[in-house]
Amino acid sequence: MKSVNALCAALLAFTVGSYAQGHNQSAPFYLNLLSDDPGLNGTGLVPCHTGAAIENLCSAAILNASQALYGPFQFNTTAWSVAANSTAGEVGVLTYMLQGSNFNESEPMNLSYDSSSNIAAPIFMPGYPQLTVAFDSDNRLNIPTYTDTGYAPLYRWYLCDNSYYYKYRSIAWVVGPGVPDDASCCPVGIYRSWV
Ligand SMILES: *[C@@H]1O[C@H](CO)[C@@H](O)[C@H](O)[C@H]1NC(C)=O
Ligand SMILES: *[C@@H]1O[C@H](CO)[C@@H](O)[C@H](O)[C@H]1NC(C)=O
Ligand SMILES: *[C@@H]1O[C@H](CO)[C@@H](O)[C@H](O)[C@H]1NC(C)=O
Ligand SMILES: *[C@@H]1O[C@H](CO)[C@@H](O)[C@H](O)[C@H]1NC(C)=O
Ligand SMILES: *[C@@H]1O[C@H](CO)[C@@H](O)[C@H](O)[C@H]1NC(C)=O
Ligand SMILES: *[C@@H]1O[C@H](CO)[C@@H](O)[C@H](O)[C@H]1NC(C)=O
Ligand SMILES: *[C@@H]1O[C@H](CO)[C@@H](O)[C@H](O)[C@H]1NC(C)=O
Repeated sequence: MKSVNALCAALLAFTVGSYAQGHNQSAPFYLNLLSDDPGLNGTGLVPCHTGAAIENLCSAAILNASQALYGPFQFNTTAWSVAANSTAGEVGVLTYMLQGSNFNESEPMNLSYDSSSNIAAPIFMPGYPQLTVAFDSDNRLNIPTYTDTGYAPLYRWYLCDNSYYYKYRSIAWVVGPGVPDDASCCPVGIYRSWV
């Protein structure tokens, strides 16, 4: 019960902070892959369009896209953001600035779950729904989670062939400790590098 309460308190505190006090925004950074595939290791990730003002996270290497063209990412924290574990990093929200012809919209990252598989897709879209993430002391992106045995930063990122709408290789999160339901998914890490 204690760990569940701690999570609720952290989420509540974050929610209050994000509305009442605004955010501290990090310097811009790029997101890169850690992979056993030498052709992918160190290459970038870019937001890829999947719907009106909705982006997934795709491999820039496979799209032949330049990260710089797509603008960097940022990390928003509040005074209420806690680091439950200093190694795992302060919690906050990963954001991407969508630039239109006459607007700029800071979009938070969330996960879009699929009821028929254990694969969730990171999505950037306008509005409140957002996911609490952290960058650990090696700058690696994790999802901080409280389990029965305590606090655990999780790193269940994969690169999969089958993204929702297009044939990009896109990032997926696997729900639970099992292997991905999609056999095309390979495990990767995601780290940030400052612009
Ligand atoms: C992130 O923080 C900046 C600076 O306070 C703010 O302008 C932006 O709207 C925030 N983005 C999100 C998605 O909350
Ligand atoms: C991938 O790149 C990282 C950082 O440059 C390096 O430390 C690591 O050894 C590389 N992994 C492989 C499998 O080449
Ligand atoms: C990306 O570039 C490589 C090497 O220039 C090329 O072989 C490949 O077909 C390109 N991929 C796409 C999707 O354009
Ligand atoms: C931003 O960071 C400063 C310094 O850590 C802190 O004093 C301030 O309360 C933070 N602001 C918000 C909105 O979180
Ligand atoms: C959006 O941001 C870009 C880059 O900072 C800036 O050049 C542009 O004027 C902004 N557009 C609007 C509508 O604010
Ligand atoms: C985003 O996050 C919220 C709150 O955690 C959740 O209810 C929602 O289902 C998530 N997914 C989407 C696609 O909004
Ligand atoms: C933080 O979490 C990691 C992974 O669970 C663990 O190995 C490490 O000992 C923790 N560090 C602290 C300071 O609690």
